[in-house]
Amino acid sequence: EKGGFRSFMEKEIHDQPHAVADTLLGRLDLSGKLVLDEMRIDESVLRSVDKIVVVACGTAAYAGHVAKYAIEHWCRIPVEVELAHEFRYRDPVVDERTLVVAVSQSGETMDTLMAVRHAREQRATTLAIVNTHGSTIPREADAVLYTHAGPEIAVASTKAFLSQITAAYLLGLYLAQLRGNKFADEVASTLTELREMPDKIQQVLDRSERVREIARWMADTPSVLFLGRHVGFPVAMEGALKLKELAYIHAEGFAAGELKHGPIALIEPGQPVFVVVPSPRGRNTLHSKVVSNIQEIRARGARTLVVAEDGDDAVIPYADEVFFVPQTSTLLAPLLTVVPLQIFASELANAKGLDVDQPRNLAKSVTVE
Ligand code: F6R
Repeated sequence: EKGGFRSFMEKEIHDQPHAVADTLLGRLDLSGKLVLDEMRIDESVLRSVDKIVVVACGTAAYAGHVAKYAIEHWCRIPVEVELAHEFRYRDPVVDERTLVVAVSQSGETMDTLMAVRHAREQRATTLAIVNTHGSTIPREADAVLYTHAGPEIAVASTKAFLSQITAAYLLGLYLAQLRGNKFADEVASTLTELREMPDKIQQVLDRSERVREIARWMADTPSVLFLGRHVGFPVAMEGALKLKELAYIHAEGFAAGELKHGPIALIEPGQPVFVVVPSPRGRNTLHSKVVSNIQEIRARGARTLVVAEDGDDAVIPYADEVFFVPQTSTLLAPLLTVVPLQIFASELANAKGLDVDQPRNLAKSVTVE
């Protein structure tokens, strides 16, 4: 049932092109217009939403962070991302013009469910982005956008994460179209690019031998840092989380811009650091800023493991290793850049002889607060 793979996690990592394709399936009609038929919220309500709050935990919250960058850019609606347990126990400012989006693979996470209940009490509109049909969160939310990743067995979330990001992009593109925005061309081209993502994810999988090799060599490493900027920041956080939970290695994800505000003090000779580099084709200076960060940490002896886009030769002089991924737009890149980090964690845990599917102390679905 593991389809020839050593673990369910490895199988699920390899299922990711399908998970993304299936999440897109039936949601884009032939003319490229979005069809979100499970979304039963009145369009007038969505037009009047003035704030979106994403509530989620763990990996699902990182999907929410990626969504924030995309939705704010495409829709010009402010998006906050809240850990569900923190949201629930303060006094969040939420009202009938707020759309609360709960992201959850299981649909049973108690913290996220409580956040949905709280949001409804404040008369917010609630939308569930959930993978498990018939679970509790979609039953209680006003509307549902199912991710179609298929059952996820490994405790660590991988294909559900990619499909959550995909669903959140669809939501953003839908809202952008509905609300009429000045980025119509960009929405159309992003839809085209989204359709190309399953093939590109497959290319990342096909090229994964080097990252596996490096992971096996690094089985004894005591700590790994992850840096990213913009959408690469939640990817860095997710890479660190995967390594903690699977390989029991101390790992931290940082926003690359924070380096000089503290974390650079951690850099000493030999410290492995993954850096997620944004596309050099973007319109802004993000890319050059991250390349300078790589230079800075390398000058202090860091071992730099760089995830960059095909053709990005600028990173080569400062990288001990480069894992290239296919080109795509800046906002969609997380669907590609997180994959080498997932493979790294799974392979390293495997090399340590650990149970990749059932890490210690963790449960697949956390149904207590
Ligand atoms: C990490 C992981 C957890 C879950 C979190 C939320 O690999 O699996 O961090 O993402 O417990 O679970 P769901 O998505 O079921 O609400």
